[in-house]
Parts: sequence; structure tokens; C-alpha cells
Amino acid sequence: MNRPVQYTVADCMLIDLPRHTRPNGNLTVVENTVEAPFEIKRVYYLYDVPAGAERGGHAHKVLQQFIIAVSGSFDVTIDDGSERRTVTLNRPFKGLHIRPGIWRELSNFSQGAVCLVLASEHYDEADYIRNYGEFVEIYKEGVL
Ligand code: TYD
Repeated sequence: MNRPVQYTVADCMLIDLPRHTRPNGNLTVVENTVEAPFEIKRVYYLYDVPAGAERGGHAHKVLQQFIIAVSGSFDVTIDDGSERRTVTLNRPFKGLHIRPGIWRELSNFSQGAVCLVLASEHYDEADYIRNYGEFVEIYKEGVL
């Protein structure tokens, strides 16, 4: 499939989410297509990640993600085949928008960290690129 836009690391924005702070606790909201920069079709979360474990290690052809550290912290390394950037997520009111065609690796999970992922598509293994060398080749050719 030809992708009309080839996204880069610079297109993956950290988005501030609204905070309703109260003496009895705080609340953050994410609405479809409002704070979340796409239509949400799926929600999943990573938890009980052992110390030193890594997640991700793949790119998606079409799927977009919005990732929030709702508890604890972890690092997200994003890579477009030529530039690589690591973003630490450690606040429940910040979300990282990962565009299609971006390699991601998640690491340095703190104890008790919960990684909430809002996704633009249903689960489809065919949308994954799980080999980094293949990702770089595909990216260079501009075809995902
Ligand atoms: P994967 O996306 O590789 O996890 P991560 O990127 O967090 O390391 O998925 C891990 C496993 O879970 C894989 O066998 C597929 C399965 N899975 C589903 O069945 N449905 C889903 O929505 C997701 C995200 C994963």
C-alpha cells in the first residue's frame, strides 16, 4: 500500500491533556478526536512489566497510537529510519501521539507503571513491521 505521507519523529507530538485538579484528587479526560488526535477504535494497557523488560519493538503501517503513562513512568523511543528520539512519559496528563510508519520501543518501566494505549485501528498483526532492518528498507522506499 502506498502511504501518501511519510511521517517523521518530529510529527510525533507530546500533547497536554486537560486536568481537573481538586483537593480530593485529579481527573484527566481524553475524548475521541478532541484530545486524542484520531478516532479511537481500541484501548489497551500494559502493566506488571518486569524491571528491565522492553515492549514495542515494531512499527505500524496504518495504525496511530496515543500513549499515556497513567501511572509511573517509562521511556518511549521513536525512530523514523533516520532520526531517533526518546521521550520519558511520567505524567498522567501528557500523551504521546505516534504516527503511522514510526518504529517504537518502550523501556525503563518503573515499578507499578501502567501504559495506556489508545489506538486508531482494531488489532491486526498484518499492520505490524517487527523487523527493524525491514522497517528501514521499507521506509527508504517510501512504501508501507
Ligand atoms: P504487541 O503489540 O507486540 O505488544 P507490545 O508492542 O506492547 O510489546 O502484542 C503482544 C501480544 O499481544 C501479541 O501476541 C499480540 C497480542 N495482542 C492482541 O491480541 N491484541 C491487541 O490489541 C494487542 C495490542 C496485542
